[in-house]
Amino acid sequence: MGKVYVFDHPLIQHKLSYIRDKNTGTKEFRELVDEVAMLMAYEITREMPLKEIEIETPVTTCKTKVIAGKKVGLVPILRAGLGMVDGMLKLIPAARVGHVGLYRDPETLEPVEYYVKLPSDVNERELIVIDPMLATGGSAAAAITALKNRGAQNLKLMCLIAAPEGIEKFQQIHEDIDLYVAAVDEKLNDHGYIVPGLGDAGDRLYGTK
Ligand code: PRP
Ligand code: URA
Repeated sequence: MGKVYVFDHPLIQHKLSYIRDKNTGTKEFRELVDEVAMLMAYEITREMPLKEIEIETPVTTCKTKVIAGKKVGLVPILRAGLGMVDGMLKLIPAARVGHVGLYRDPETLEPVEYYVKLPSDVNERELIVIDPMLATGGSAAAAITALKNRGAQNLKLMCLIAAPEGIEKFQQIHEDIDLYVAAVDEKLNDHGYIVPGLGDAGDRLYGTK
């Protein structure tokens, strides 16, 4: 079974509180999501393998460490996942970015796929799928399925907020995938929104409704 990691760093929790606040406007919401995504990128890369290299400082030669292992790919789930890309790229600037376009049908709450574009070497990369919200879990599960069907082998899912119902469903469908979140909330409401959550992530990021 995949593990669920909750990033409890004080800065992440502090900023998430303002992201949740309904009085936070679009500009500030977007900036905060960007900042939290950067902090989550720092946390999610904690276990990256290192290799030793030799360099010359102005004083002498020395052995030192750089990141080894697979190259990274970021895969935002459109639309709201886009709000987390730039923050992550600040710390992982060489990452390639793929896109999976899904929207949740408001009646059935089932995900509908409308776009997939991935780096050609997707099977060789360590992919981090990003979406602010894991509600019913349908969108994230469908995105991971779309990636696996195209050869992706090394996948993680990163969300700001997850509902317990969504985690359970996601883990049933993809028991091999670890999940990294800033918070696990209480429940879903009758419309499939996370409670307390932050509302509609896409609408709050882009000022639509
Ligand atoms: C939101 C969110 C997730 C999805 C989560 O996207 O960004 O992708 O809902 O819900 P689920 O876990 O129940 O599938 P939405 O469908 O509102 O599309 P948008 O990002 O284009 O606004
Ligand atoms: N999508 C959102 O943007 N917010 C929710 O609470 C659930 C799904």
